[in-house]
Amino acid sequence: MWFLCVFYHRLLDFRKPEVEALAELFGEDESLQWRLPEHHHNDTPFHFVHLSSEEIAQNIAKRSILVKGMYELWGEGTCYEELRDSIESFPDSRKLPFLASDSTFRISVETFGKALTFDEQRERINSLTYIPFEGKVNLKNADHNFFIMEMDESEENNGLQPILQRRIFFGREVGFADRKLLPTFQLKSRTYLGPTAMDAEMAFLMANQAKAASGRLVYDPFVGTGSILVSAARFGAMTMGADIDIRVVRDGRGPDCNVWSNFKQYGLATPVALLRMDNNLPPWRSGLKELFDAIICDPPYGVRAGGRKSGGRKILRGTVDPYTVPEDKRTDHIPSTGAYSLVECVHDLLHLAARMLVMKGRLVFFFPVLRDENGSEIHADSKSFKDPKPKYRGKYV
Ligand SMILES: C[S@@+](CC[C@H](N)C(=O)[O-])C[C@H]1O[C@@H](n2cnc3c(N)ncnc32)[C@H](O)[C@@H]1O
Repeated sequence: MWFLCVFYHRLLDFRKPEVEALAELFGEDESLQWRLPEHHHNDTPFHFVHLSSEEIAQNIAKRSILVKGMYELWGEGTCYEELRDSIESFPDSRKLPFLASDSTFRISVETFGKALTFDEQRERINSLTYIPFEGKVNLKNADHNFFIMEMDESEENNGLQPILQRRIFFGREVGFADRKLLPTFQLKSRTYLGPTAMDAEMAFLMANQAKAASGRLVYDPFVGTGSILVSAARFGAMTMGADIDIRVVRDGRGPDCNVWSNFKQYGLATPVALLRMDNNLPPWRSGLKELFDAIICDPPYGVRAGGRKSGGRKILRGTVDPYTVPEDKRTDHIPSTGAYSLVECVHDLLHLAARMLVMKGRLVFFFPVLRDENGSEIHADSKSFKDPKPKYRGKYV
């Protein structure tokens, strides 16, 4: 079945991958396909997606961060006459079950790139008298919600082609986003915050791409204040985190302001473990593998927080041999640390994923890249990230 998938006009590169990950999570087989409305550019908020059932479309819309709504399209056109022809040729067998006298309905008007007055909206709704609605209108809690979506042709933007041309859609809503999620989890009301805490929208998006869900174990090897794991826990996953900084994982800012408090604040299951661990020297016992369903993280690239790895400067330079911690100091010994380069950090992360992810498990991580004048990606080296005023435009893969 084809659905009209309407996206929020944000984080454009991540919209389809999020839907594809969620489709897999909700059991979509191979039938997912994308199609663009006529004369629309890939950046348009309006896309058609082929999914095998309405239930999958509804589940995706409910969980997604970037999907505004999914609709069964009843008609489309470049003007209201074309829209009418299109709706009238949509099969009655698909329309009549939603127009029955014992059901309630509501019609709303949405616009993109233009605004309509209340009277203009009412005029659009009244023009639909050719649809045989038999039920009663209910503006607060209707059984069936219908949408007219109208947009004007967008203008050229700095020489780039317009993203859409004038089109009007009419459809029945089959699923919509949970609009309370982001305000509830916004960082400004988070109990324990650090300078690099992950923004809630991005954390939920990453958890969706990692297919976090009940019965799955999600690991963040650079856990910091735990904001990525909070989003995974919100979707029902079991979580586990590690960080080289003992102050973060053990102490936080006191007994009521630490990583654990961030989970308790929302009534979420707390992590199964928080470890003080260096991802460059992980203490996994030999033979241990395929433990995590997903690894999600924001590694220390040196933009806001520099990476550290175990071993003092002299050991890392090779001027002093590694030492063995004396028995009486082992219980609370914290090794000294030295610089941890971007290259090593990513290498260790890929190594961790190759060993510790289950088959078809997912690794989702932030990776900053530079863009040249033509928009092509140049992968950054650690030197660029030490520049206090880096000239790159933020972009993450
Ligand atoms: C960008 S921050 C992650 C922030 C986190 N996502 C949050 O929401 O608070 C990177 C974290 O990696 C930790 N880190 C640096 N080097 C590490 C290493 N070798 N092993 C494990 N953690 C390390 C830092 O202490 C820091 O907390």
